[in-house]
Amino acid sequence: MNTVLIKNLGKHLDEEVTIQGWLYNQRGSGKVKFLILRDGSGLLQCVIVKQNIGEELFDKTKALTQETSITVTGIVKEEPRAAGGYEMQVTGFEVINIAEEYPITHKEHGVDFLLERRHLWIRTPRQMAILRIRSEIEHAFRDFFYQRDFVLADAPIITPSACEGTSTLFGLDYHGEKAYLSQSGQLYSEANAMALGRIYCFGPTFRAEKSKTRRHLMEFWMVEAEMAYFDMDDNIKLQEEMVYYVITRVLERCKRELTILDRDVEKLKNIQLPFPRISYTEAVEILKEAGEDFTWGEDFGAPHETIISNHFGSPVFVHRYPTSIKAFYMKPDPEDPNVVLGADLLAPEGYGEIIGGGQRIDDLELLKQRIEEHHLPIEAFEWYLDLRKYGSVPHSGFGLGLERTVAWLCGLEHIRETIPFPRMLHKMYP
Ligand code: 4AD
Ligand code: MG
Repeated sequence: MNTVLIKNLGKHLDEEVTIQGWLYNQRGSGKVKFLILRDGSGLLQCVIVKQNIGEELFDKTKALTQETSITVTGIVKEEPRAAGGYEMQVTGFEVINIAEEYPITHKEHGVDFLLERRHLWIRTPRQMAILRIRSEIEHAFRDFFYQRDFVLADAPIITPSACEGTSTLFGLDYHGEKAYLSQSGQLYSEANAMALGRIYCFGPTFRAEKSKTRRHLMEFWMVEAEMAYFDMDDNIKLQEEMVYYVITRVLERCKRELTILDRDVEKLKNIQLPFPRISYTEAVEILKEAGEDFTWGEDFGAPHETIISNHFGSPVFVHRYPTSIKAFYMKPDPEDPNVVLGADLLAPEGYGEIIGGGQRIDDLELLKQRIEEHHLPIEAFEWYLDLRKYGSVPHSGFGLGLERTVAWLCGLEHIRETIPFPRMLHKMYP
């Protein structure tokens, strides 16, 4: 048995092959049946002609229900009208399991209904396309860093202290000690960078925010890089090259998926390097010109980010935010300590902040002072302070939210579809 994936059928023209899949849909008459099969890599129309396979086998097609698992063997034929460009002339099939009546039919369902059945919802073509693009994006990040000699250094998930402020921590009991799920691998990444030079980590992070927006998850994946001897400008340049590389990869390798999603790819193709860079102060000016009532020193909300990025129609870096609204580790600008040498990358089309990053404080005394000002427990940070005692160097890094990036590149309304099993406010089933 020559088993192949639907997406690779082009390499097997006129050969007899077998597809292992599930029945997505079917139609036909008493003489010819068209089974639409899915195998996770694509959809395929399988043509069953009674005359060719015999009455007994043909009659078995009557019992086939949606999502029945089935292996189908046949000859691969070119068919320009079919979605993938091929169809199969069936020579035989074997039913593995007749599915019970499937709850997700081909009519429209409400999103609450679908979320309750997320374990089945992911079988629909749209969801499969998104998850395949997510997979491509993850590979692209890893390849980008691998090509540039970065070391993959994983950060712990269970941590004794906060990284991004204490308000959004999920706590847990660590054999009687208080512990938390990581909000960011950054502090450990800084240690790893002092050992290995240029590193990245890519793992799940957790935020117990009471946010119910289309951009927030309680559990999301973050790509974080940390580079010794990088200043803010080096940091920004690396980020834009990385994002550009990922866009290019998706455009090249996910054409079918982007078509299924009806993504307007021109908007992605138009993106050029370098991305525009503006200061927070300049961004505030843009908001005021747009008629927003905004005071210097406030943090941007989602509508503000949309106004700023629409102004450019490209991903845009906003740098030098007020020190008072950023994390304790951000290095103040020597030319104006009221702002930090940090930058966020705002995605176009209203997708908002996808990267937060910046240069870190490398001075021991200043870092101690900041930890106190932020009312963080200094004992928990002794090891982190050590990095400023033993060969401290200027260094920078950033974290990119995978799901927001997937939502943007796929052109999705809501982040909940970007991960197989989203964890949202008050919702963690299934
Ligand atoms: O801006 P954030 O909080 O930055 C950090 O955690 C830094 N320590 C990263 C670093 O420098 N190593 O988060 C980084 C990114 C955001 O820009 C956003 O894309 C994503 O993580 N993010 C979320 N994505 C989904 N749901 C949430 N609740 C998110 N919170 C942040
Ligand atoms: Mg941020």
